[in-house]
Amino acid sequence: MKKYLVTGAAGFIGSNFIKYMLRKHDDISIVVLDALTYAGNLGTIKDDIDDKRCFFVRGNICDRALVKELFDKYGFDVVVNFAAESHVDRSIENPQLFLTTNILGTQSLMDVARAAWATGKDAQGYPVYREGVRFHQVSTDEVYGALGAEGYFREDTPLCPHSPYSASKASADFIVQAYRDTFHLPVSITRCSNNYGPYQFPEKLIPLVINNILEAKKLPVYGRGLNVRDWLYVDDHCKAIDLVISEAKDGSVYNVGGHNEQRNIDIVHLIIDIVRRQMEQHPEYRKFLPEDKRGDISWISYDLITYVSDRLGHDLRYAIDPSKIKHDIGWYPETTFAVGIEKTVEWNLQHRDWVDEVTSGDYQKYYEHMYGHRG
Ligand code: NAD
Ligand code: DAU
Repeated sequence: MKKYLVTGAAGFIGSNFIKYMLRKHDDISIVVLDALTYAGNLGTIKDDIDDKRCFFVRGNICDRALVKELFDKYGFDVVVNFAAESHVDRSIENPQLFLTTNILGTQSLMDVARAAWATGKDAQGYPVYREGVRFHQVSTDEVYGALGAEGYFREDTPLCPHSPYSASKASADFIVQAYRDTFHLPVSITRCSNNYGPYQFPEKLIPLVINNILEAKKLPVYGRGLNVRDWLYVDDHCKAIDLVISEAKDGSVYNVGGHNEQRNIDIVHLIIDIVRRQMEQHPEYRKFLPEDKRGDISWISYDLITYVSDRLGHDLRYAIDPSKIKHDIGWYPETTFAVGIEKTVEWNLQHRDWVDEVTSGDYQKYYEHMYGHRG
């Protein structure tokens, strides 16, 4: 029975990860540690924590005493660190919080893990750890900075982050690698491209566009919409993390992406087309639209798009070269973008209660603050 501590699993990717792991493996137990910030939602993982193999603890990864208490109580073999402040726009508003959670939180987890896992020292004075333990850091392609029109991020591309978010994630990656080099802590890192799929918080581009259409709101596109992101269905990311933890050598870094580059404006057009088609094919879905907008739906068109002022320091293009993970581990993405985006629109239609719940707090205030003045 492998014992996992999964941080940040009340958020988007972490929640999909624990669902994936509980489906895939019988012989595991999972403790979720999550602070339940605006991005975390207990309802998302309610069914999972009803499973007797999965427990939930509300707490902050920076709280070393709590993390130590959990290690003492559960004796984890693996830590998977998803917990983070994840939204680039918010990092421009409040860099400090990003540095604290993403850098110091990662360090706090590793300090407790190395103390808990150490069994002695080798002849050179390096710590020796219990067999089979691993600290896995969930990182991002944004640590590499931005590409021009050509080229791909490889694992040996120098880190060159631009936003406070990506700088905090790059710093965490450096600390993780420093703990490997200095303390021989068994670690691995995955750097994934943009994820999409179920339970993504509606501040991110894809769910924001879907939900804004359903509320007959304008669709804000930054700059000219020409920035490129490399999109991956969230389950494919979860599978990659699972494989890297079980099969990759200690100290490995793997890029994760499925060669699915898209310009933002093309994504927005595609989502408009899909929502309109679904409303045409399934008139019963029109109940999800505002009451006075359900008859003639020709308003679901590209006219909803509004070009707004650009994100500061907006990275032009991300694109992952995934050949290392394919070659070493045999990972490949299973969900094509055509299938995944259709499923994601459908999921958002079918989960209006979830969307209402996660946006019921300060989200409207946030939205007004971020978009109200952009015009
Ligand atoms: P998210 O914002 O949806 O979820 C983050 C979760 O972390 C939330 O449940 C939140 O409550 C929790 N959290 C935040 N601060 C915490 C703290 N101090 N202590 C404990 N819990 C805390 O994020 P996501 O999109 O699911 O991203 C998860 C991870 O994957 C992040 O590390 C992110 O950098 C990385 N990543 C994300 C993407 C993407 O496209 N979303 C791509 C590559 C990598
Ligand atoms: O690349 C991986 C990263 O992807 C992760 O590390 C981050 O945690 C995750 O948030 C995501 O970052 P992005 O900034 O790429 O994602 P976001 O959904 O915020 O934006 C995607 C693109 O869409 C980006 O070029 C900005 C643009 N955009 C975004 C929003 C929210 C718009 O044009 N309009 C919007 O309203």
